[in-house]
Amino acid sequence: MNLSLLPSEIEKAATEFGLLLEKCSNLDAAMRLKGQYIGREDSFVAQMMGLLRVAPKEQKRELGATINELKSIWENALRDRQSLLVEERRRNDASALAWDNTLPPPMPLKGALHPLTSLIDRLVEIFRPLGYHVEEGPEAETEENNFDGLNIPADHPARGAGDTFYFAGHQELLLRTHTSPVQVRTLKKLAPNIGKKGGIRFLAPGRVYRKDELDPTHSPMFHQLEGMLVGRDIGMHHLKGTLAYAMKSLFGSEADIRFRPSYFPFVEPGCEVDVRCPLCFGKGCRVCKNSGWVEILGAGLVHPKVFVYAGIDPDIWSGFAFGMGVERIAMMVSQTPDLRLFFENDQRFLASMGGLG
Ligand code: DAH
Repeated sequence: MNLSLLPSEIEKAATEFGLLLEKCSNLDAAMRLKGQYIGREDSFVAQMMGLLRVAPKEQKRELGATINELKSIWENALRDRQSLLVEERRRNDASALAWDNTLPPPMPLKGALHPLTSLIDRLVEIFRPLGYHVEEGPEAETEENNFDGLNIPADHPARGAGDTFYFAGHQELLLRTHTSPVQVRTLKKLAPNIGKKGGIRFLAPGRVYRKDELDPTHSPMFHQLEGMLVGRDIGMHHLKGTLAYAMKSLFGSEADIRFRPSYFPFVEPGCEVDVRCPLCFGKGCRVCKNSGWVEILGAGLVHPKVFVYAGIDPDIWSGFAFGMGVERIAMMVSQTPDLRLFFENDQRFLASMGGLG
C-alpha cells in the first residue's frame, strides 16, 4: 500500500466493506469479513496500522484518528449484521422444528378431577339409583353434632384434646372427626317431612380430621363417605343387601362382603364390614395382609337415641347407617401402598391414576 494513496484506499475499502457485509448471508461469512478488515493480523486495519508507524509525523494524528473511526464504524456494522443473522437463524430453526413431523406433538397437561374426588363421584353414582341424594355439613362442627347427637358419652376418649382438634377459645367448636354429624343435621332438617316422603336416604362425603401422625396409612385429614337410610322395619338384611350391591358395582360381581360385630355408640347393633380382597379374590396378598378380606367401613342400625335427639319417633322409624374410609378404598382400587401420595399432588402420581391427560 502506498502512503500517498491512503485517503482513496480508505474510501474504497469503506465502500467495499459495506457491500461485502450486506452479502454476508451467514455468521461464518461475517466472521471471515471481520478477519479480513479488522482482524489482528493481515487485515486492512492491521496493514494501515503498520503504515501509520512509518508515516510522517504531521500525517500520523489525522491518519490514526481516521483508522480508529473506521474501525469502530465497521465493528458496529458487524455487530448489527451478526445479531440480524442470529435472529434469522433462530427463526429458521424454529420453523424447521415446527415442520418436523417426526417429533411428538406438544401435549398440554389438562386439568382433571383428583382421584379421591373421582372415587367419591363414582360411589355417589352407584347409590343414586337407590334414591340417595348428597347432603353436606361443615368441617368446623359443634361438639353437639359431632358427639352429643350421636349418643357419644361425655367421657368418651375420642372427645379428648388428644384425639380431636378443638378451636382455641371455642371449646364447643371442633374439626369434625367423622362425617356422622351430617346424620344429626340432616335428620333434624328432614324430620318434619319424613312422613310425607316415606323415609330418608342420603350420602354425605367429606373431609374429617383427627390428631393422627402422618404415615403411610394415617393422616390427620382424610375423607369419609357417610350413608344413611331411614324407613319402616329396616333391618341388617337391608344394610347387607345395599352394601353388597355397592361393592359389586365398584369392584365387580366377584366382590363379597362380611359383617363383624363391633361397637359404635350411634348404632345398635354395630358392625364393621370387610370386602373380599378385590385384588386376590380372597386368596391372600399384600393388600389384605394375607387374610383375604379388607375392612372398609363401620355400620349398624340407627340407635333410637339418635332418632329421639333429631325429633324422629323410633317406634315408627328405623334405619341403617354406614361410614366408609375413602382413602382406604382408593388405596385398594389403585394398589397405592402409601396414603400420603393422595395429598402430595405429584403430577406423575396423579397422571398414573388416570387423572391427568
Ligand atoms: N363414624 C365412624 C368412624 O368414624 C364410622 C361409622 C360407624 C359410621 C358406624 C356410621 C356407622 O354411620 O353407623 O369411625
